[in-house]
Amino acid sequence: MVYHIPALLKESIDGLNIQPDGIYVDVTFGGGGHSLEILKNLNKGRLVAFDQDEDAYQNIPADDRLLFLNQNFRFLRNNLLFNKIESIDGLIADLGVSFHQFDEAERGFTFRQDAPLDMRMNRSSQVKASDLLMNMDEAALADIFFKYGELTNSRRIAREIVAVRQNRQLLSVNDIVDAVGRFAPFRQEHKFYAKLFQSLRIEVNHEIDYLQEMLEQALPLLKTGGRLVVISYHSLEDRVIKNFMKTGNFEGVEKKDFYGNIETPFRIINKKGTTPDDEELSKNNRARSARLRIAEKI
Ligand SMILES: C[S@@+](CC[C@H](N)C(=O)[O-])C[C@H]1O[C@@H](n2cnc3c(N)ncnc32)[C@H](O)[C@@H]1O
Repeated sequence: MVYHIPALLKESIDGLNIQPDGIYVDVTFGGGGHSLEILKNLNKGRLVAFDQDEDAYQNIPADDRLLFLNQNFRFLRNNLLFNKIESIDGLIADLGVSFHQFDEAERGFTFRQDAPLDMRMNRSSQVKASDLLMNMDEAALADIFFKYGELTNSRRIAREIVAVRQNRQLLSVNDIVDAVGRFAPFRQEHKFYAKLFQSLRIEVNHEIDYLQEMLEQALPLLKTGGRLVVISYHSLEDRVIKNFMKTGNFEGVEKKDFYGNIETPFRIINKKGTTPDDEELSKNNRARSARLRIAEKI
């Protein structure tokens, strides 16, 4: 089975504007699709790649210019400094999960097959999706379903989970599907479960918090003229990236200097973001929610 098909490959690599002798970082190595393309464009340059999932080891090419780190990208700065890298020419992040993680049923990312409800990208981290379902209070669960899954009946779903878990454990994909199946709209069951599972995954892996931590560290590391290239798959993530590129903060609050000029750390390269075209989608429909944003450090 294919490990991953990279989304928006050409557009994102063009967006990095690679300097052949520069230092680049791919914080989401996965199957290495973007990394391999970066290496092709490098001469004496270097690439540092992060992935918190040890399964990514199987995709590392033999190339002295690549340093792979099995680390969470929230530790970007410390890892680079540890390796004596103080500034970088570009960083790419292709967020979310790989096909491999999704397709390995026993990892519990998909509702399509029964398995333990795990959903950890890093299998040495503590909290699984089943822990959230069994332990979180009702309001916190509702919040997750609403914020990360955009489920409109999030409160009723959370109430049902709390009621069901008084009598039986919610440990597997089938357990949760049975528990809340009655809330799935007729003929939109798959969409409903996809949203529910996505919301749990984002919480289990702290995806929004860690994205913010990484972006904040990336800004001072980037050289002037260096590129920040991010592909996201969820509107909440996209808002975080868009605001950060526009204003340097996550709220999107513009700051002005003494003369009233808007202070911004980046020049935005593609204002509306870039989405896959029909040709890409005909070959890789899983890229359908991808949105690429590119910015250059001023
Ligand atoms: C969409 S895939 C990237 C695919 C890759 N661009 C390719 O072409 O094969 C996302 C990868 O990022 C990793 N990942 C997600 N969040 C991470 C984080 N906070 N730190 C490190 N790796 C992360 C996941 O484990 C997954 O392998």
